[in-house]
Amino acid sequence: MSAVEDCGGVAAPVVAWEDGATRRAFLGDGASASLHHPFGGRERIFVPPWRIEGAFPGFTRRAPLMGEHTDAVLAALHSCPTPKMRSSDPGPVTYDRPRDLPHESRTHMSELTFRAFQATEPKKPAELVHLSAEDLPAGDLLVKVTHSSLNYKDGLAILGRPGVVRTFPLICGIDLAGEVVDDAHGFAAGDNVILTGSGLSETRPGGYSQYQRIMADHVVATPSKLGPWGAMAIGTAGLTAMLSILRLEAAGLTPDRGPVLVTGATGGVGTFAVSTLARLGYEVHASTGKEDEHAYLASLGATTIVPREKLTGEPRALDRQQWAACVDCVGGVVLANVLARMDYSGVVAACGLAGGPTLPATVMPFILRNVSLLGVDSVNAPLELRRQAWDRLDDLYSLTTLKQVAVDATLEDLPRLSEQILRGQIRGRVVVTMSNP
Ligand SMILES: NC(=O)c1ccc[n+]([C@@H]2O[C@H](COP(=O)([O-])OP(=O)(O)OC[C@H]3O[C@@H](n4cnc5c(N)ncnc54)[C@H](OP(=O)(O)O)[C@@H]3O)[C@@H](O)[C@H]2O)c1
Repeated sequence: MSAVEDCGGVAAPVVAWEDGATRRAFLGDGASASLHHPFGGRERIFVPPWRIEGAFPGFTRRAPLMGEHTDAVLAALHSCPTPKMRSSDPGPVTYDRPRDLPHESRTHMSELTFRAFQATEPKKPAELVHLSAEDLPAGDLLVKVTHSSLNYKDGLAILGRPGVVRTFPLICGIDLAGEVVDDAHGFAAGDNVILTGSGLSETRPGGYSQYQRIMADHVVATPSKLGPWGAMAIGTAGLTAMLSILRLEAAGLTPDRGPVLVTGATGGVGTFAVSTLARLGYEVHASTGKEDEHAYLASLGATTIVPREKLTGEPRALDRQQWAACVDCVGGVVLANVLARMDYSGVVAACGLAGGPTLPATVMPFILRNVSLLGVDSVNAPLELRRQAWDRLDDLYSLTTLKQVAVDATLEDLPRLSEQILRGQIRGRVVVTMSNP
């Protein structure tokens, strides 16, 4: 250094970064300064040893336009033919990404582990497990699941009861809402989507998983006003209620035909049937077995409470006519009593079996009172019908209203809540929130 300085040059030692930061010789000579970092606490930084006189140098090239070099970068990165570029000038530039490119998200997914509630074998309660991307099924859309919900069927699946899960191991959860990870099937990465039923937790892995790969046939864009939480607060239960009402309307039901009964009224489907019918201007009678929930049902819009025991006696072939229509979530002896009490040309939408799958009824209501019994299935409902139902639900409900009928839960809460839903002790809806990695 001195040799250089002797010749009039400027010399300084070359040191490693760590040396400069730690060696005493460099700490006191004005080359560094001590300051307080808001998160890191006290830190020593280097002070640039130069001063600029006059104007700062300006840029000599324009900044690149967004996407200008993408094709060249992709080609270089992936050593594949340059992607075909579609350009409309002026306007946005889009690329056909070659199918075999290792997409960033897939690379990321291969390292990912996530939590899921999985039924491992028949008659055994499902378990909270850690899975990786390889455990996901083949499918059309990879979704980062943010929310799911708890339904009666979920209770059965979680507790290892028969009738829901048909192949093992299988992730439970008949509903899901989340964000699309990869562009596919008309959806773009980042789109919010929902899927209910459609084999989830029956033949395909379901929504109690932080990631899921799903078939696109029944996927609906998340209704904009409801968002993912609101959509799951409604979930299969609310969709089923809406599909039941659509069937009743298609059979000619209008509010002026007379009161409409909802059975199993405090349950998930019942809650939405009562509330939706009331919002549409119907006079709603609600049947419940819960004596302490009459105020809740009145708050949803029910004007008359029918205690469940009024509908559980030995059904007569025909009884006093009381209702123009019914959304029945219960089946069994309750449905048989309901049929016997329908008005002339009354319509009943049968959507549930909380009280049993049998129907101890006679044909008298059908042949003497022109009563119709209509079936409702939400699991395989066609896409157009789903969209129609979700549009109606999006119009009718706000998040504020939904917060009054839904509570939040996590994956860990599912076994306890499953016991409760099978005992008929859950009021309204449960939204299961995934905490994503
Ligand atoms: N068709 C479809 O696509 C579809 C879709 C979803 C659900 N479902 C079915 O619809 C039914 C309701 O589903 P959910 O999710 O609303 O279930 P949920 O939340 O458990 O509600 C069922 C309600 O039925 C009543 N109930 C329970 N056990 C009963 C019994 N032994 N006898 C008479 N009433 C009883 C209770 O209401 P109260 O105490 O107020 O009487 C209970 O809250 C279930 O059977 C479910 O499998 C069908």
